[in-house]
Amino acid sequence: MRLDKFLKECNVCSRSESKQILKKGLIKVNDKIIKDSSYKLDENKDVVTYNDKVIEYQEFVYIMLNKPSGVVSATTDSKDTTVIDLVSEYAYKELFPFGRLDKDSVGLLILSNDGKLAHELLSPKKHVSKVYYLKIKGRLDESDVKAFKEGITLEDGYVTKEGELEIIKSDEISECYATISEGKFHQLKRMFIALNKEVVFLKRIKFKDIVLDESLNEGEYRLLTNEEIESLKAI
Ligand code: URA
Repeated sequence: MRLDKFLKECNVCSRSESKQILKKGLIKVNDKIIKDSSYKLDENKDVVTYNDKVIEYQEFVYIMLNKPSGVVSATTDSKDTTVIDLVSEYAYKELFPFGRLDKDSVGLLILSNDGKLAHELLSPKKHVSKVYYLKIKGRLDESDVKAFKEGITLEDGYVTKEGELEIIKSDEISECYATISEGKFHQLKRMFIALNKEVVFLKRIKFKDIVLDESLNEGEYRLLTNEEIESLKAI
């Protein structure tokens, strides 16, 4: 792997910043100062230091994507663009999405190659909460808030676990925040259908403690910070 790529993957600096750091002689590979950003190293064997501190190679990548509408939450698809296509620079990392958002839903999706963490976070037993901003066709009132709290019977008889509904505006097109800790297929759309309403816009804004970075436009992404990764792992 190229040295500048290694530094970026380890969250040391961006690929463009690495040139300056290398020029200053701050990076050593196996105790030898390396100034060439294209230097090829073995990330599993070579010891790389920055300011004489060892940089641990990060096998796993954690990405925050602001998913746009029209893109499917899958790794491959024969006709639609996938969320993985949007982060093609990391294709070699074999990423997958942590859970799914519908094709017409937007917002926070975490992509990673950390299968163990995905398994833990997506386990129904872990009750990881997710917060959504929604626009709803139909007026909302306290009976909807109560229904979310008590559980809503879906069309197949399943009763949803306790959730939370916060009404922002009740009108012909209402706005609200919904918090749920499950991930059934089309769950919120089905919950609102059961309440005789229709979801017309759905954006995930929070997954566990990770909040969507609003500076990311739809389709844009960034690596999670080390603090965000730690908070995801704190189960
Ligand atoms: N609930 C839905 O109905 N769709 C989503 O994309 C996410 C939650």
